[in-house]
Amino acid sequence: MGYLSEDKRKVTTQRLREMKQRGERISMLTSYDFTMAQIVDAAGIDVILVGDSASNVMAGNMTTLPITLDQMIYHGKSVVRAVNRALVVVDMPFGTYQISDAEAVTNAIKIMKVTHADALKLEGGAEILPSVKKIIDAGIPVMGHLGLTPQAINKFGTYAVRAKEEAEAEKLIADAHLLEEAGCFSIVLEKIPAALAERVANEVSIPIIGIGAGGGVDGQVLVVADMLGMTRGFTPRFLRRYADLNSVITDAVGRYVEDVKTGDFPNEKEQY
Ligand code: KIV
Repeated sequence: MGYLSEDKRKVTTQRLREMKQRGERISMLTSYDFTMAQIVDAAGIDVILVGDSASNVMAGNMTTLPITLDQMIYHGKSVVRAVNRALVVVDMPFGTYQISDAEAVTNAIKIMKVTHADALKLEGGAEILPSVKKIIDAGIPVMGHLGLTPQAINKFGTYAVRAKEEAEAEKLIADAHLLEEAGCFSIVLEKIPAALAERVANEVSIPIIGIGAGGGVDGQVLVVADMLGMTRGFTPRFLRRYADLNSVITDAVGRYVEDVKTGDFPNEKEQY
C-alpha cells in the first residue's frame, strides 16, 4: 500500500508552494488518457502532467516534436474528465509558443478553454520569457522546464545529461530565477547533475520537480508507462520501475488468445 494523502482537497498551485515550504515532497506522473488518469489520481498523485511525451508513448513517434495542439487538447480533455484531486498540467507542444508571444497566449488560452486543465508547461528559459509572461498575465499558471528539454533535441543532438559544463549550469540557474520572477509556479528540471538541481531548489522559492535530477529537489516526475514497466528498451539510470505491466499484459493477452482459439472463452456463464 502506497502513501495516500489524507487531504482529499483539489491540489492547487498555492498548495504546491505550501508543500515546498513545509518540506513535503511533491509526486507527479504523466497520463494521457481517461482510464490511466483515473487510476493515477485515485492512487494519490499530486500532479498529473499531460506530457507531450504522448507523442512517443501514445503515437509511437521518435521525438515529442510531431504532436499537434489539437492532439494535446484531446489528451488534456480525456485526463481532466478523469481527475478529482490532482493538479492537471498540459504541455504546450513544439511550435505553439516559440513564434511570438501573441501566438503563444492564443494557443495557451485555447488549451485552457477546451481542456479545463489547471496549468500549462513550457520548455525553455530566457528565450521564451516574453511568451511565459504573456501567458501568466492572461491568468494561466505556468510550469517551466529546464535542463534536457526534449523539444530541442535536434539542437542538442543527444539525450545525454545537460548542464555539466559551468557555462550551461550558470545559464540554467539564471533561467530558473527568470522563470520564478516571471511568475512560474514551479519548474521541471530534467536530466541534470543532482548538485546543480539541489542548488536551484535551494535558491528559488517555487517547487522544483526533478526527472533524472537527483533527490535534493522538491518533487519527482516520471513517465507513467516507463515506471509501470509497459515500455521496453528505455533504461536510463533515473528510471525506477514499480511494476512489470509489459509481462502482465503479454501474459493476459496470451491466455485470452489461447482461450479463444480453444473455444474455452466464452463459457456458458459468459453468454446470454
Ligand atoms: O512530456 C513529458 O513527459 C515531460 C516529462 C518528462 C517531464 O515533459
